[in-house]
Amino acid sequence: MCGIVGAASHRDIVPILVQGLSRLEYRGYDSCGLAVHASARGLARTRTTSRVADLMAQVQSEHVQGLTGIAHTRWATHGAPVVHNAHPHFSHGTGADAETARPARVALVHNGIIENHEALRAALQARGYLFSSQTDTEVIAHLIDSHYQGDLFEAVTAAVAQLHGAYAIAVICRDEPQRVVGARAGSPLVLGVGQGEHFLASDAMALAGVTDQIVYLEEGDVVDLQPGRYWIAGRDGRPAERKVRTVQAHSGAAELGPYRHYMQKEIFEQPRAIADTLEGVEGIVPELFDGIGQDGRTGASAHRVFQAIDKVLILACGTSYYSGCAAKYWLESVAKIPTQVEIASEYRYRDSVPDPKTLVVTISQSGETADTLAALRHAQSLGMHETLTICNVATSAMVRECKLAYITRAGVEIGVASTKAFTTQLAGLFLLTLALAQAKGRLPEADEARWLHEMRHLPVALQKVLALEPQVIGWAEQFARKENALFLGRGLHYPIAMEGALKLKEVTYIHAEAYAAGELKHGPLALVTAEMPVVAVAPNDALLEKLKSNLQEVRARGGVLYVLADADTRIESGEGMHVIRMPEHYGLLSPLLHVVPLQLLAYHTAGARGTDVDKPRNLAKSVTVE
Ligand code: G6P
Repeated sequence: MCGIVGAASHRDIVPILVQGLSRLEYRGYDSCGLAVHASARGLARTRTTSRVADLMAQVQSEHVQGLTGIAHTRWATHGAPVVHNAHPHFSHGTGADAETARPARVALVHNGIIENHEALRAALQARGYLFSSQTDTEVIAHLIDSHYQGDLFEAVTAAVAQLHGAYAIAVICRDEPQRVVGARAGSPLVLGVGQGEHFLASDAMALAGVTDQIVYLEEGDVVDLQPGRYWIAGRDGRPAERKVRTVQAHSGAAELGPYRHYMQKEIFEQPRAIADTLEGVEGIVPELFDGIGQDGRTGASAHRVFQAIDKVLILACGTSYYSGCAAKYWLESVAKIPTQVEIASEYRYRDSVPDPKTLVVTISQSGETADTLAALRHAQSLGMHETLTICNVATSAMVRECKLAYITRAGVEIGVASTKAFTTQLAGLFLLTLALAQAKGRLPEADEARWLHEMRHLPVALQKVLALEPQVIGWAEQFARKENALFLGRGLHYPIAMEGALKLKEVTYIHAEAYAAGELKHGPLALVTAEMPVVAVAPNDALLEKLKSNLQEVRARGGVLYVLADADTRIESGEGMHVIRMPEHYGLLSPLLHVVPLQLLAYHTAGARGTDVDKPRNLAKSVTVE
């Protein structure tokens, strides 16, 4: 999704801007650009609908240099992904047209969506402002220009007061060569503190290698940076003190090693990611979920919360939503706690019946997904203040805004299609199930020991599943020639079927749908032909015989089955029936294993079809707009 980098320094900041963008590249974008204060030329801008590497080549050939600048990767929301819609946007005063108008005074980059852009656009046009893009962003550039009276900070403060919607912005001005001004509401923005230089970014990761001293700006903050100082005003306009945190240096551009794509690397990292996520878990204690306070793990205590609540409401999007769907089965069968799972973008806009004795659980890889954050805030506004997040980024807004947290340790996930984040979320959610069961007196000691033992064995079990890759490649060669696929699962594995279908459509563009297998005869059976591969997740559980009947329904109609079957299921390969035997039966934890061949199936089918696996068309890694 959109990324922002800004810098004010005494050295040429163009390499820092471009490197920052390349660190955010994996999130998905369709155009990119930068603007610098180039002393002789005023504001100089370079934009492209190509990759960040091409932007770099372009600025090098044009000898673009500057001490102050802003840069952006854009994921189109308003206006097509073409150069004139790419950021930075300039403000143009009156003239015959945008190109002949007086030289740009303000350059701006923006993440988010401005909801009142049409009204603002009309008002600015009436004042003679000329628009050269279809974006909501250009409105902000003109608006700041319209307020400008010699002080960029004041002009930005006045302009953002008129904006409705979500924004993180970084702005430079022709008349103030040493200054970058930023502001945020609803979209993330951080300040990087350097020595004699300061930076802005939509994610601290963009500043890896530049500074590890980070200030997470708060809702409504406006920040003024110059090489030698910075200054933050809070929502009320008064000076605001914000803590400078040292963040762990990590680079988004992790090495691929022997792998061809990040998705493949991340699938194979799952044994390590699960081991890291469970590291230090000696027993099931509520403290595992304590909140993260300003100074490490000194936040709210989970013990009281777990005893007080009697319901769970899970809010998430995409793959994270499916991990929540699986967790519902665990929470209700093991902890006996009524659990509701909602797509965040639906929950935030519907009338629901709040219950203050609910534990609101958000699940998010990035911790910045706009809909999930908004759903969390909506739940809080309804009086539900017991909140917990399962999140992969300890410094994210989600962790900061939830009372309690479990940080998965999947490591940086680069592939847009989530893989290792999903399995580590499942691990965190299973631990949460056990912790809640214990708090409610529903976890016998023997069960606790058994579950812990099985969880610790997961990395080994995952290795065995990954060894099935050659067989999955065989399936993928057949899937690559199809345009539709059905995924079936029952019970706990229905969410795994949904995740398998999502993976396949994300990276191969094959239309894939998932059904609870019992629903097959209520409609989707009509689609079954030899051209519609049907994938079935068939663990040896209580629903196996029911599932086998569903598979017969498919075979009887000439459908071709691809089954992930546990040993002892007596499901054998034969005509129209392809079986991959799962190495171990894993009971309640089996979703963590069964999802892996489905990830590999999507990955290798994408490889056979030649799609851009790590950056599928139209998709973004971290969706920070509604
Ligand atoms: C995007 C990503 C998905 C992810 C979803 C939720 O759509 O492409 O992979 O599952 O956002 O993201 P989150 O960071 O909240 O888990």
